[in-house]
Amino acid sequence: MTEQAIPGALVEALVKADAVVVLTGAGMSAESGVPTFRGNEGLWQGHRPEELATPLAFRKDPEKVWEFYDWRRTFLAACEPNAGHRALVRLEEIADEFTLITQNVDGLHGTAGSRNVLEVHGNIWRVRCTGGCRGEHEDRRAPLPRPLPPRCTCKSLLRPGVVWFGESLPAEVFEQASRASEQADVFLVVGTSGAVEPAASLARVARAAGAVVAEINPEGSLLSAVSRFILREGAATALPRLVAAVEAARG
Ligand code: OAD
Repeated sequence: MTEQAIPGALVEALVKADAVVVLTGAGMSAESGVPTFRGNEGLWQGHRPEELATPLAFRKDPEKVWEFYDWRRTFLAACEPNAGHRALVRLEEIADEFTLITQNVDGLHGTAGSRNVLEVHGNIWRVRCTGGCRGEHEDRRAPLPRPLPPRCTCKSLLRPGVVWFGESLPAEVFEQASRASEQADVFLVVGTSGAVEPAASLARVARAAGAVVAEINPEGSLLSAVSRFILREGAATALPRLVAAVEAARG
């Protein structure tokens, strides 16, 4: 793909911005080797993630759901942040106010060094008790010791610390994300199809509140229509170029 020029007006908006917000989706991690959701490579043993990532699937067969998550965790354990993740770390360093809202559960933004990260769909490296104690903690072991499903010290089943289809997003995290979106001067939409609500609506909230919205995605998405600027390019090449242009313009 030939490189598209970085729009000067987008660079200028980023240089002037008091508040920068970035919304990322699965495409952000594609160049780290993580499959996106809405493509055939996202399938697991013939199942669509949507069939396994539900409270009902967990009630019916917690072992199978954990096998799926253990497979994903083991796969992700070998993946590293890409140049796009690192460019966002740099953007946070140079921006006055910066909020990174991610739909990704892979934790790669944190591994890269991003600090103000709102994980609206949770984090696959966290586990939560489904019983009385409701405890939640990080567990980075991959694969998890057998037998699955893992259990809490209180003996109840543990579940992955992610949001499943049909569940609400963590209220406080989503509130912070909504507030940041309303206050954004520039809102970057990176690597998301915009197919899953309410996360996708944050870009519309930002646009309605007057933010300059820009999309980075090699393909069109449901959020292309709200984006004033569009870079049809992968995140790992577009973001470093964009951030380098902002740094150059700041002098
Ligand atoms: P999708 O799989 O729906 O969309 C991935 C997007 O990334 C597509 O628009 C691709 O064109 C784009 N893409 C692919 N490669 C890219 C690259 N190198 N750089 C930039 N973009 C690229 O993933 P999401 O929009 O993240 O929910 O899906 C949203 C939610 O649906 C996920 O968080 C997950 C899923 O079900 C939960 O887990 C609750």
